[in-house]
Amino acid sequence: MNTRSPGRHFLQIPGPTDVPGRVLRAISEPTVDHRGPGFADLGRAVLTGLRRVFGAEGPVIVFPASGTGAWEAALVNTLSPGDAVLMARTGWFATLWHDMAVRLGLQPVLLDTDWRRGADAAAIEAALRADTGHRIRAVCVVHNETSTGCVTGIPAIRAALDAAGHPALLFVDTISSLASIDYRHDAWGVDVTVAGSQKGLMLPPGLSFNAVGARALAAAREARLPRSYWDWKPMLEANAGFYFPYTPATNLLRGLQEALALLEEEGLPNVFARHRRHGAAARAAVRVWGEAGAVELQCAAPSDYSSSLTAVRLAQGHSADALRALILEKFNMSLGNGLGRLKDRVFRIGHLGDFNDLSLMAALSGVEMGLKLAGVPCASGGVAAAMSVLTTGADAGDGAGA
Ligand SMILES: Cc1ncc(COP(=O)(O)O)c(C=O)c1O
Repeated sequence: MNTRSPGRHFLQIPGPTDVPGRVLRAISEPTVDHRGPGFADLGRAVLTGLRRVFGAEGPVIVFPASGTGAWEAALVNTLSPGDAVLMARTGWFATLWHDMAVRLGLQPVLLDTDWRRGADAAAIEAALRADTGHRIRAVCVVHNETSTGCVTGIPAIRAALDAAGHPALLFVDTISSLASIDYRHDAWGVDVTVAGSQKGLMLPPGLSFNAVGARALAAAREARLPRSYWDWKPMLEANAGFYFPYTPATNLLRGLQEALALLEEEGLPNVFARHRRHGAAARAAVRVWGEAGAVELQCAAPSDYSSSLTAVRLAQGHSADALRALILEKFNMSLGNGLGRLKDRVFRIGHLGDFNDLSLMAALSGVEMGLKLAGVPCASGGVAAAMSVLTTGADAGDGAGA
């Protein structure tokens, strides 16, 4: 039996993403003494470089953890048992953050969507206006819902808090948007931004982040949820000298230094534009495939289109998991699965991180061939439509997109 898959594997899940050679080589350098005299140079480079990526003047805290750890850190550092938190349940990841809040003894107030659009700023404003006693201490929103490919406009959420005159903190999960979709922690008035290493930052999984604003730091002085590993205070004290209170993921930090250099070399506005173009091209392909009636975009609101991934919804009677299995077997490409209530209904094409036009064309070709082989009705020419967006820059019919 032939067990070899020649050529490279296409990792087209919406994170973890491909790690560029320069970053891999940096990670593979010998491990250093994290308390030694030379370490502060690395600490300084990453802790200051990260601020530019978040658009934050204040500190960015780095945990050796997946994104879930940074969710927990945001909550336990700022809130107390029984606090109400307003959570927009826009998809599977927003659901997991909500479940964590319940387990921590918080009292989420939920605003649901149909998982086909971002959070509803008007509903958030109404919920805050109704909370005349200011029981709600924080509003939690996922910027780019990785399960649905829908973005929430954060300036509109900030405006909702301001219009309601409500003092709640604003927490934003940018795990699948940071360094791929425009994001500005300070300018958009966010109090805690949560992020992870394995998507737009082009690193392996294993680092996660909290960008922390002044109001969140003040809340941390009063907050009473138990915290130890996630405690910001010892982190900030050690970070002041560019060290860490416990063993940091030294090799990943060295990789982060290189990833930050790559982002600076390309320039963040160019990084965002590259992702926007790829999002528009991917959606052009899906629109053509969908002319046969069995395939459509999961995101139903053009203003909320994600540029880091495209979630594709199949009509009843077709299995997204069977399609993904076929594409993996035939073309050595991994696509993201449908999560939660989207299981087997949706597959997700990641087009973020270290990614270029030909990476996108390969991924879309694999999907178009897979749809044909799986017997999913699919109009031909999706790949050609994407090519035309890439070559002419035209994305007519696409709407806006983040
Ligand atoms: C938007 C979002 N939030 C949170 C998470 C959870 O992060 P992790 O799996 O790194 O713990 C993910 C993971 O994909 C995500 O996409």
